[in-house]
Amino acid sequence: MFDFRASQGLTKPELYRELVRAADALTEGEPDSIANMANVAALLWEFLPDVNWSGFYRLVDGELVLGPFVGRPACIRMPLTSGVCGACAASGKTQLVEDVRNFPGHIACDAETWSELVVPVIRDGIVNAVIDLDSPLPARFDTDDQAGIEELAKLLSTRI
Ligand code: SME
Repeated sequence: MFDFRASQGLTKPELYRELVRAADALTEGEPDSIANMANVAALLWEFLPDVNWSGFYRLVDGELVLGPFVGRPACIRMPLTSGVCGACAASGKTQLVEDVRNFPGHIACDAETWSELVVPVIRDGIVNAVIDLDSPLPARFDTDDQAGIEELAKLLSTRI
């Protein structure tokens, strides 16, 4: 299995290269999307410091439904019309939010969350799910995190 200690001291782009490589190895040849989302949620949790929630919401019948995650229990169903995840799924665009309190319609599943990164997983031009990362630190995520998670989402497009 993976030696997560080896990821210490890497630059962010290096860290995400390792993360995507690990996600590739874990999901390759496995057709079960829930198993793949569960392992990737755990991988994100292991690789990324200062994260208090890592996981997936799936787009089911026009709303977002909680998928595999690591962290505190979270909102089960969310509309596309509100929240950071909703904005991501509705627009098909990554949402990088430095302070969720300033995001109109933010859905607070955990009052300790300060910043958030949500990236769409797109299959055949349609949003299939979103990857959601939350942090208790302000402005925890930057464009390096965005690029890394977008790379991961590309890999997962045919695996979840
Ligand atoms: N804060 C999110 C809701 C999901 S939880 O963070 C896990 C949002 O506004 O979409």
